[in-house]
Amino acid sequence: MTRTGADLDGFRLWPGLLGRAEQEALRDAVFVRLKQAPLYIPRMPKSGQPMRVRMSNFGALGWVTDKEQGYRYQATHPETGKPWPDMPERVLDLWNELSGYDAPPEACLVNYYESDARMSLHIDSDEQAWDAPVLSISLGDTALFRIGGPVRSDPTRSVRLASGDVCMLGGPSRRAYHGVDRILPGTSRLLPKGGRINLTLRRVTAPSSPST
Ligand code: SIN
Ligand code: FE2
Repeated sequence: MTRTGADLDGFRLWPGLLGRAEQEALRDAVFVRLKQAPLYIPRMPKSGQPMRVRMSNFGALGWVTDKEQGYRYQATHPETGKPWPDMPERVLDLWNELSGYDAPPEACLVNYYESDARMSLHIDSDEQAWDAPVLSISLGDTALFRIGGPVRSDPTRSVRLASGDVCMLGGPSRRAYHGVDRILPGTSRLLPKGGRINLTLRRVTAPSSPST
């Protein structure tokens, strides 16, 4: 069998970790915060091409991108200029229970996929704390997630991420290419307009740095 990022040490999937009531509570906690920090359309560095996914963030730092300045973390929403809302308690609990990492996460990226959205293969590489895992929580319609290895041309594998599933890219899989091929519309009734929300928790700065 060919090994991919999903077979690397440190990749973990907890199917259905959040039950329906917990998914609803987390959805509501997300929607309240999105009123303060609305979803916006991120743009690719240099080309300025809009991404298919809409984004926002919770926590001290948010991952953003635009034509002029490219990929980065910043403490404020690019459109409102306001600090990001705090992270829902439940996601911090999940980090503490699952990550095995001593320091708390600093960023909770919110990705909203409408039924035709996808995300091309990439490595999360804008963080200093590469020893920290990335924890991802899925809400709403099922995604066909794709994960490969550390080189773009490495073999890949498709993994279904359904509502309530939590997955972790830690250890060697932290450096694996991954993306979302597509969303399977109508697979969940959690979100009133359908689609999928993915919450990605990340430690950004190295814990010994002055910002901790
Ligand atoms: C991401 O890699 O930022 C998102 C992955 C996902 O939506 O599951
Ligand atoms: Fe990613």
